[in-house]
Amino acid sequence: MHITNAQNDIESILFSETQLRSRVAELGAQLTAEYADKHPIVVCILKGASFFYADLCRMMQCHISMDFIAVSSYGAGSQSSGVVRILKDLDTSITGRHVIIVEDIIDSGLTLKHLRELLSARKPASIKTVCLLDKHERHDPHIAADLCGFRIPDAFVVGYGLDYAGYYRNLPYIGVLKRAAYA
Ligand code: PRP
Repeated sequence: MHITNAQNDIESILFSETQLRSRVAELGAQLTAEYADKHPIVVCILKGASFFYADLCRMMQCHISMDFIAVSSYGAGSQSSGVVRILKDLDTSITGRHVIIVEDIIDSGLTLKHLRELLSARKPASIKTVCLLDKHERHDPHIAADLCGFRIPDAFVVGYGLDYAGYYRNLPYIGVLKRAAYA
């Protein structure tokens, strides 16, 4: 089974399914209270945020619309350049709407910063950024998300949507990848 092989490459589990479920429920409750009458558009940044997004949306007890955006970072290598190219744009207009951008992880923080600027130019009523994981040591604190699931150290994490070379997204937990799997 593919999933068994994937699990063999995990050094340690950083957040179990139970821990993820519990924290996502807290975030969902917080957003439910905040957006009760606002009918927000909740935006998923593909692909890494997909599982977090699906779970978070199900934890929101108010009216929401769902939309998806796919972006690619310009520039070579694994470092984000911060300039994003839209591969798939939103289907709906966000002008005058309350928008919640859902991201899986902030590393340099540049993707989220740029996306926020890009969507702000469309004149939404408000924008909030939510990320599951924040590698806070890696970026300027001024570009942190408005709402964050967990602050994490600078480790190579995969699972629950996060990948290495396109794999490991389907692990149900977030784990640290063994060095041998990528070195
Ligand atoms: C990852 C992640 C964030 C971004 C974070 O996306 O999902 O969008 O990098 O990096 P940054 O804070 O340094 O900008 P990736 O480009 O790997 O695409 P994916 O979501 O499809 O995995």
